[in-house]
Amino acid sequence: MLPHKQIESALQAAVHTVLSDADAASVLVRPCDPKFGDYQSNALMSLAKTRKLNPRQLASDVVANLDVSKICEKVVIAGAGFLNFRLKNSLLTQTLEAAARGEHLFFVKAASPKTIVIDFSSPNVAKPMHVGHIRSTGIGDALQRTLRLLGHRVISDNHIGDWGTQFGKLLLGWKNILDCAAIERDAIAELERLYKVINAECDANPARLEEAKSELVKLQAGDVENVAIWKEMIALSQKQFDEIYGRLGVKFDHALGESFYNPWLGEVVNDLLAKKIARESEGAVGVFSDGSQPPKEDPFLVNRDGEWIADPALVRKSDGGFNYTTTDLATIDYRLKTWSPQEIIYVVDDRQSGHFKKLFATFARWKPDAAKTTKLIHVGFGKIMGEDGKPFKTRSGDTVKLGDLLDEALERAYKTVCEKSAELPAAQQHEIARVVGLGAVKYADLLPNRQSDYIFSWDKMLALQGNTAPYLLYAYARIKSIFRKAEVKIQNAEIKLVAPEEITLANHLLNFGITLEAVAEELRPNYLCNYLFELAGKFTSFYENCPVLKADDAATRDSRLALCDLTARVLKQGLETLGIETVEQM
Ligand code: ARG
Repeated sequence: MLPHKQIESALQAAVHTVLSDADAASVLVRPCDPKFGDYQSNALMSLAKTRKLNPRQLASDVVANLDVSKICEKVVIAGAGFLNFRLKNSLLTQTLEAAARGEHLFFVKAASPKTIVIDFSSPNVAKPMHVGHIRSTGIGDALQRTLRLLGHRVISDNHIGDWGTQFGKLLLGWKNILDCAAIERDAIAELERLYKVINAECDANPARLEEAKSELVKLQAGDVENVAIWKEMIALSQKQFDEIYGRLGVKFDHALGESFYNPWLGEVVNDLLAKKIARESEGAVGVFSDGSQPPKEDPFLVNRDGEWIADPALVRKSDGGFNYTTTDLATIDYRLKTWSPQEIIYVVDDRQSGHFKKLFATFARWKPDAAKTTKLIHVGFGKIMGEDGKPFKTRSGDTVKLGDLLDEALERAYKTVCEKSAELPAAQQHEIARVVGLGAVKYADLLPNRQSDYIFSWDKMLALQGNTAPYLLYAYARIKSIFRKAEVKIQNAEIKLVAPEEITLANHLLNFGITLEAVAEELRPNYLCNYLFELAGKFTSFYENCPVLKADDAATRDSRLALCDLTARVLKQGLETLGIETVEQM
């Protein structure tokens, strides 16, 4: 068992002895400031708070029942009731040796794996994927990779927007103004054009709008021609999505689009009406506040000029059509029946947080028992801004298409590769540019706290210095070059940790697992980015201060080579978990 897990289970046992009714599983340890120790637990303070106990007293009671003498130096109670642990050097060494033998890579699978559905990317049919889609796609993919690595059963589902009122206009356009050559050339651009032209016509002319509506009604009624055209539009879009996912290396277990849930939408609304969760209002049907929450926290109320007014979740329009929420409710029901997940995670723009609050509250009223066993989580994120501080756009003010952005990333990376690694064969230069370019874009998106907006900067993300993918990829390739030079295989090296830089690096390697757990718990891939950046930095100080190939003796050299190898392995696994490939040489 890894040291932090040993400490955790000893600590949980001690907590259980002192407070038999406490939820001991919530008592965790986290890495801490090396000044104070290697690990810290702050869990006792919240336990003390809920029980109105003196936290320092609780801490000393727990420590009196805690036996970690084989793993740690003396446990220190700090501040208001933190526990600080410092690992014994012998344990650190043993853990690294086990890792060097391939027994683990500083993480373990979850003791009780969860079934987790993750809904991410979810672009809309007949529209190009734009730069904003990198957010849901990249964050969602990093999360599915992390959760899978930790042994959870993950079901990823791309909830494609393939249904809705836009199809009335698209159908009208397809039947009247379709340019066959253009659809062959660039299907999405042509679909976009159809929509724009017809939309403008509908705005100007109510009769045109009626025509579009009747195309939609025919589609909804299963008209053979309209259904065939609609399917064709989906297939054309899917081709473009698949191309982008292929480039990004992102895979889904399912891509059940919104249309998949059509057959159940009527039932959902009837059930909500029968259970008095929804009611009619001005011809439409919606879910309203049930008054169970203070207005400020009530998702079904908004404040307008100091007054709280109803802001229902609409589930049926006055024309009988259904809403986004209706589909999402049917989707939850399907996911529960099909996979019985403990969690459903939605990786969607923060601008939809109102939708998800209402959706989750409606679900809790609709299926109160299921809501006790299945947690719904909105993993929100902010916007991508341009260097001018406004939402990121092309020079001409259009949204940036994701495909174009990836092309540009590769081109820019290729230029740098040609400058820095002129001696490499052309094919290898292109491969490096691909990995670096894609990695840079993905990493820059994963690095900020996901809820903050961030500024898109080519220069920053492609820099070889700083917290960037190129820096980490370079750090990895540099370690690999040591092994090319050394032409050695390290086997079962004995590890000796003497220099402070060796100990610091070793401790940081041990934190890989805890970091992955923190990413999984808080659904924040940026923790892993920062961990890897620190790892590369700690490796650099080690490498500058501790000669490896020129070490004084063979034993020291082998021990240091083992540290190099473990660092490379963690870097590679860490980057892969973020969805970033590596190259052996740069
Ligand atoms: N297609 C939606 C959009 O582009 C996102 C869907 C997110 N997932 C969901 N279950 N609502 O806004």
